[in-house]
Amino acid sequence: MFLSDSHLPQLLTAEDYTSQEQFQRELDRLFLPSWQLVGTMSDLKQEGDFFTFELLGHPLIIWRTEGRPRAYLNVCPHRFSRMKSETCGNTGERLRCQYHGWEFDCDGQTRKIPDAQSFRPLTKGAMRLTEFPVETAGQLIFVRLTDAPGPSLSEFLGPFDEIARSCFDENRVCYDRIDMEVEANWKVKVENGMESYHVDQIHSGTFGRMPDSSSCTHELQENRSTFATVEETEDRVTQALDRFIHGLAGQEPDWEYKHYMFYPNFMFIKMRLFTWAETVLPIAPNRTRLYTILFCHGGRPGSLRGRIARRMMSSWGRRFIRIVAQEDAEIIPEVQRGLAAARRPSTGVVSVREERCFHFQEYIRRNTSAETEQRQTPNGTTDGETSLVHS
Ligand code: FES
Ligand SMILES: [Fe+2]
Repeated sequence: MFLSDSHLPQLLTAEDYTSQEQFQRELDRLFLPSWQLVGTMSDLKQEGDFFTFELLGHPLIIWRTEGRPRAYLNVCPHRFSRMKSETCGNTGERLRCQYHGWEFDCDGQTRKIPDAQSFRPLTKGAMRLTEFPVETAGQLIFVRLTDAPGPSLSEFLGPFDEIARSCFDENRVCYDRIDMEVEANWKVKVENGMESYHVDQIHSGTFGRMPDSSSCTHELQENRSTFATVEETEDRVTQALDRFIHGLAGQEPDWEYKHYMFYPNFMFIKMRLFTWAETVLPIAPNRTRLYTILFCHGGRPGSLRGRIARRMMSSWGRRFIRIVAQEDAEIIPEVQRGLAAARRPSTGVVSVREERCFHFQEYIRRNTSAETEQRQTPNGTTDGETSLVHS
């Protein structure tokens, strides 16, 4: 059942989804202080492996050294070239800039400057890479773009820290990614991901019908919310197949579908043997990058039965989740066009089934309104109570 007993107002105005000023406030107040998903440890299997990632205007290089990932701005302190332009590779024990060949060690210190005497005098340690905090949850790698005091990743994930780690642990295998851009404000996509009301209309060929309200559970916390439903099929053949595949992976059948949302822009979903993590990255007020990493349970590492289960499931999962993503990607720009129209017929309304959108809009209001005096809390966002908070 849902938490509200009557419909709710649409709190955000069209301008909140279209204005450059609001966009900048969101970047500064919501995105820079929070943890951002950038990739997985499966991208960094060997010492020296790296990958590059464009995060909120910051070109990053994530590099595995001494067994752990570290994150640097992919901009050289010499004359500002991007040091690496490849999406991934292995750079060994030194990071070498592709322009003039400066080399850096795993602490970001300059280790070699070709023709060094031509730079005299140069204070030792003066020219180094900009490093950012990195933490992992299972195989997922997160970066914070500020050194300012803020929450640890565990604090950011709060009571869902443990489930996040287990949903992306070493028993899961990363089998696909979806990286796309849509012509819409980032909040349109987040809100789309937080309501099941559009399922009948948009996902009739994939998810089928929206779940009955009696099988739905919403959980609302400050800066987070979840949605859970149970999808047990009545079809005996599908049930038997589900049990068989779960058995191969050494898992008990689990028909719960659960969506975890961490404001502003990180979510993960658990569905049968699948888990997927999504990040919604603003590019401009009306342009957003959607980056999704898909995992499938493969039983214990090295298990043959698990590998068979994963092979059977992953091609189905890849197709299913790609179709769902495309279905949403087609409707989201239509919302943005309506928001950008010269006029609209009403101020909007939010159903009880969409109450997580209202909760998210309260979070946006609380943290970004021009009048709000910013009061930092341990989780890096502003303090405040909401009418729907059930912590
Ligand atoms: S810009 Fe990197 S070495 Fe010159
Ligand atoms: Fe959807």
